[in-house]
Amino acid sequence: MWSLIKPLLFKIDAEDIHLNVIQNIRRFGPFFLKNSKSDIKKKKAFGMTFRNPIGLAAGFDKNAEILKFLPQFGFGFAEIGTVTPRPQEGNSRPRLFRIPKEKTIFNRMGFNGDGAFVVSERIKSQKSDLPEDFRVGINIGKNKVTPNEEAAIDYQKAIIPFEGIVDYVVINVSSPNTPGLRDLQTVAALEPIIDSVQSVIQKWKTVPPLLLKLAPEAEIETLISHENSWGITGWVLTNTLAGTFLYGKDHLPGGLSGQILQEKSRTVLKNVKKQSEKSVISVGGIMNREEAQTRLDLGADLIQIYSGWIYQGPFFPRDLVKSL
Ligand SMILES: Cc1cc2nc3c(=O)[nH]c(=O)nc-3n(C[C@H](O)[C@H](O)[C@H](O)COP(=O)(O)O)c2cc1C
Repeated sequence: MWSLIKPLLFKIDAEDIHLNVIQNIRRFGPFFLKNSKSDIKKKKAFGMTFRNPIGLAAGFDKNAEILKFLPQFGFGFAEIGTVTPRPQEGNSRPRLFRIPKEKTIFNRMGFNGDGAFVVSERIKSQKSDLPEDFRVGINIGKNKVTPNEEAAIDYQKAIIPFEGIVDYVVINVSSPNTPGLRDLQTVAALEPIIDSVQSVIQKWKTVPPLLLKLAPEAEIETLISHENSWGITGWVLTNTLAGTFLYGKDHLPGGLSGQILQEKSRTVLKNVKKQSEKSVISVGGIMNREEAQTRLDLGADLIQIYSGWIYQGPFFPRDLVKSL
C-alpha cells in the first residue's frame, strides 16, 4: 500500500506534506487507529520502563500536536521539540527536501516552533490519553537571536515549564540550522548550559534523566570524559550531518538525515560504547529491521527514527517492534 501512495505524496513539497500529515492524523487518528498489544516489548532504560525501545526522533512532532496518536503507530516513546523558550518562525521556506534516490532528507528548518510554554501545555493536555508505559522526552534549544554567551539562560527558560510532565530531557547543541549552535559542543560552552538546566531539574519532585544530543562531527571523546562530573544520564547520537543542498543556483546549508547518516551514526555508537558508562539513544539512518537490531546489539539502550518513518511508511515503527 505504502509503495503505491509514496510516489504520489513525494511529488508534493516536503513541508506541505508534513503539515498535511500532522493535520490528518489529528483529524482522523481518533477513528482509525488503535493501540495494539504487539507494540509492547518493554525495555528498561534510565531506570524506567519503556513500552518498547523504538522512539520518534526530535523534530517530527516539534510542537506535540500528534503526541497522543504516536503509540498507535507502534512507537514506545517520543522526543518532542526542539523547543526554544520563545516561539520563533525558523528559516524561510523552502527548508525541507527529500532526496529519494538516496533515502535521505535535507532540512534547514531552524527551530521553528510554538515555544516552550505552549508546548508544555499541549503535552499536559494529552498525558491522560497516553499508555502508562509510553515515555515522553523533551528536547530543548535556544532562540536564534540569543547570543551563545547567553545560551545557558535560554536552556534554563526552555526547561522550566516541563516539570512533572516529561520523562527525560535532552539538551540539543547539535542542530546545524541555528547559527553558531554547534560551537556549543565544547566543554567550556557546555558546562554553564548543563549547570543551569541541572539547577532547575534537580529541584523537581522526580528528577528526570538528562541527555546531550550531539552532531556526528562532534569531538565526542573529549566530552565523554566529563560525563560523570556533569551528572548526565547519557547521549543521543546523532543529530544530522552538516551539508548543502543545491536549490536553483544556491547551495543551501543544512543537515542531512536518513541513509546517508547510517554508517556514521553506527560508528559513533560503537566508539562511544567503548568509552562511556552512560546510556545511549542511537539515531541516524535506521532504515530497516536489520539496522535497528544492529544498534541494539551494539549496546544502544533505545533507538529513534525520523527519515525511516518517511521512507518506509506509517507502520514502520510497528514493523520494527515486531521484528525485535
Ligand atoms: C525535518 C527535520 C527536522 C529535525 N528537527 C530536529 C530538532 O528540532 N531537534 C533535534 O534534536 N533534531 C532534529 N532533527 C534530527 C533528527 O531528530 C535525527 O537526529 C536525524 O534526522 C537522524 O535520524 P534519521 O536518519 O532517522 O532521520 C530533525 C530532522 C529532520 C529531518
